[in-house]
Amino acid sequence: MDKFVIEGGQRLSGRVRISGAKNATLALMPMVLLAPGVFRLHNTPNIRDVWTMSRLLGEMGVHCELNGDELFLDSSNITSHEAPYEQVKKMRASINVLGPLIARYGEAKVSLPGGCAFGPRPVDLHLKGLEKLGAEITIENGYILAKTNGLRGAKIHFDISSVGATENILSAAVLANGTTLLTNAALEPEVTALARLLVKMGAKINGIGTNMLEIEGVKELHAVEEENIPDRIEAATFLIAAAMTRGKVLVENVNPYHLTAVISKLEEAGCSIDVTGNCISVEMDEAPRPTDITTATYPGFPTDSQAQWLAFMLLADGSSRITDTIYHTRFHHVPELQRLGAKIEMAENTALVQGSVLSGATVMSADLRASACLILAALVAEGRSEILRVYHLDRGYEAIEKKLAGLGASIERVKTEEY
Ligand code: EPZ
Repeated sequence: MDKFVIEGGQRLSGRVRISGAKNATLALMPMVLLAPGVFRLHNTPNIRDVWTMSRLLGEMGVHCELNGDELFLDSSNITSHEAPYEQVKKMRASINVLGPLIARYGEAKVSLPGGCAFGPRPVDLHLKGLEKLGAEITIENGYILAKTNGLRGAKIHFDISSVGATENILSAAVLANGTTLLTNAALEPEVTALARLLVKMGAKINGIGTNMLEIEGVKELHAVEEENIPDRIEAATFLIAAAMTRGKVLVENVNPYHLTAVISKLEEAGCSIDVTGNCISVEMDEAPRPTDITTATYPGFPTDSQAQWLAFMLLADGSSRITDTIYHTRFHHVPELQRLGAKIEMAENTALVQGSVLSGATVMSADLRASACLILAALVAEGRSEILRVYHLDRGYEAIEKKLAGLGASIERVKTEEY
């Protein structure tokens, strides 16, 4: 087990390069199951979730190798159509293999993903969509068993805008017989990146970037090389960290168009922001103005940056309301922040945050983004803090301690028996 030891009070300054998007990588990797051959994915982050997905695909016969930020995947010899619980329990995104498997092989056995630190994570929309495409779905002993004699195009409306369900159904429809129309499809950049990859592989998709996708099924697809999109949530995390420490930081290798809601809220809170090409710089030399957020599907304020924003508002002179409409219970970071001295009251899915004086403590979280929020709070807390269970952070942030130290933070990774 590792922990981070942080001395608060350092101002962040300098430049930091943002890695490829975790959630795009986890959507793109399973697509190698749709076509045989060698794929190359550039700008791939070296993070635990990529290793987990590589291991899962490896058990199906895909040879995966990450050299630097280039991920090599050879899907010439698929030997299994099963995603076992041992792998799926580590990462919900494993369910993204379901669509490609049923589309190309007519069968799949995928463990139901469990819940996660911030509540249940149902997959009803995934299964309903696949049934509409002609898959027979049964649930046995915690596994999804899917089979078909051939998928056929259908009209599918998502009751809830779901990133994962859109990705799974899109990746099945590309090989279905006939045309599929998806309405209320998710608009997240990671979904658009997936659609673009599929088109590059030979799929026929109209409406990319909108919430209505029309897919004309094709007979086969082919292997390709692709450049991954930058990680908008990592970028948001660093922009907020810089603002919290009253620093001046330039984040590079980002797509500013993916961060319009976060940039707008940073400016509302009093930050100076400059956007040039694939770089965003943020400067802050005073306490932020109290600034409410309500998370929403893209292009709204991302739920994956809710915890980070809540930490930021602890420094404001006044009270802010932080509401999460995507995951109503995604507030496990609150009791940990309260141990640092944070003044926060919860009312259903809203946190009422007061300006607080934070002092160092030992904290931990079981949610990737909550752990990031605790690091941000520790950067500004008085004295020393320790963040336990760092492996949650390693799932989605590449060398976060090195990147923060490179900006002047006093942060060190320490081996520990503490759990
Ligand atoms: C993706 O999860 C992301 N993960 C999450 O990021 C992110 O928080 C989430 O989208 C929302 O933006 C990956 O891309 C790997 P959803 P996903 O399906 O696809 C409900 C991170 O920190 N729902 O868009 O699982 C669901 O309960 C992670 O990087 C159903 O009811 O999210 C939620 O309330 C955490 N039935 C809402 O939809 C379903 O079948 C949105 O979930 C599917 C979802």
